[in-house]
Amino acid sequence: MIIGIGTDLANIDRIQGTLDRFGDRFRNRVFTETEQRKAERRRDVAGTYAKRWAAKEACSKALGTGLAMGIAWKDMSVTNLRSGQPIMHVTGWAKDRLDALTPAGHEAVIHVTLTDDHPWAQAFVVIEALPTAS
Ligand SMILES: CC(C)(COP(=O)(O)OP(=O)(O)OC[C@H]1O[C@@H](n2cnc3c(N)ncnc32)[C@H](O)[C@@H]1OP(=O)(O)O)[C@@H](O)C(=O)NCCC(=O)NCCS
Repeated sequence: MIIGIGTDLANIDRIQGTLDRFGDRFRNRVFTETEQRKAERRRDVAGTYAKRWAAKEACSKALGTGLAMGIAWKDMSVTNLRSGQPIMHVTGWAKDRLDALTPAGHEAVIHVTLTDDHPWAQAFVVIEALPTAS
């Protein structure tokens, strides 16, 4: 069953502006080392960050919290499989929230998809609960 959905559209130029203005303070507050490594070696650095920003916002919506003050952004992070497919990881408060949403006898699977077409970056997140094998 589906236990959460979330979407977000992020403006790549706004992310570029934040990178220009706040630099590493912004990078380190919001993005994991893995996310930063991926973005910084890309041609479209801001676009890569913007997709991951959108993914975090979409995930917070799917978790039903939204981006409450003081949440740890890095507790929602994106990696990519060798095929390029993005994978969402949750830790800390986000994992606690996911566990609270997941019905007994089920395990949660987070699905995420990303796209960008300048100036927009978009993410969708769907959280599915699957019965655990017994
Ligand atoms: C996947 C593909 C359709 C993406 O299309 P695109 O127009 O280049 O880019 P979009 O902006 O729409 O989407 C990019 C996002 O798609 C996602 N994506 C990439 N490969 C994916 C895959 N195999 N499955 C699901 N999602 C994928 C990623 O999240 C990517 O953003 P990110 O790299 O910053 O995480 C395109 O790259 C493609 O057809 N690739 C062919 C397969 C390939 O080259 N594989 C190489 C490794 S085997």
